[in-house]
Amino acid sequence: MSIHISAKKGEISKVVLQPGDPLRAKYIAENFLENAKLVSQTRGIFYYTGTYKGKEITVGASGMGFPSIGIYSFELFTEYEVDTIIRIGTCGGYSNDVKLFDLLNVENAASESTYAKFAWGFEDDILPHQGNIYHVINETAEQLGLKTRATNIHSSDIFYRKDPSIPEIATKYSCPAVEMEAFGLFANAKQLGKNAATILTVSDIIPTQEQISSDERERALKPMIELALESALK
Ligand code: HPA
Repeated sequence: MSIHISAKKGEISKVVLQPGDPLRAKYIAENFLENAKLVSQTRGIFYYTGTYKGKEITVGASGMGFPSIGIYSFELFTEYEVDTIIRIGTCGGYSNDVKLFDLLNVENAASESTYAKFAWGFEDDILPHQGNIYHVINETAEQLGLKTRATNIHSSDIFYRKDPSIPEIATKYSCPAVEMEAFGLFANAKQLGKNAATILTVSDIIPTQEQISSDERERALKPMIELALESALK
């Protein structure tokens, strides 16, 4: 047990798939894993461990934002001997440069957040994916015939804001879209010498307010889930 995860030692696999939403973790466990067992539900943040093509895989949520993914990824890496976290999430596009359903493999996460600075003394406002898993994801996508785009992402603390224009940091680092967790995950993995990647599906286009409808979400997220699972096998 750790402070925020009630699984016993040994109940979490070396590779963890981490969506933001606990119900998405449940959906993945029930539809993609065999013999999935609920190993933690502290605060309604579900973790399930089962097998995929014979390999033990844990899928569990990060919650939203750096404070939340900061807590869960740190405890997974330090209390459960997790080697690799693959975040699987959604993001909002800043322009028509990305399209709904596009699959992004995050190369670097740029942020105005002070999380990395005050947690670990990292002064950078952009942090790369950590370890080899990003490359494994690219190779796996190619083998599966899935098109992914290597990209920088804006990792923001803010979902609602007054000014609708594209934030300065997103322009500075050519980030076509925004989410709220990758920078915190990469900071923890960097500090701890672990592997971390983030795969994202574009779920909305901010200026036009187009979005994937709730009916379409399951179908929309399937390629990302399969890509993460197949990458986790390697
Ligand atoms: N902003 C931040 N995070 C997101 C968004 C967004 O518009 N869409 C999906 N994740």
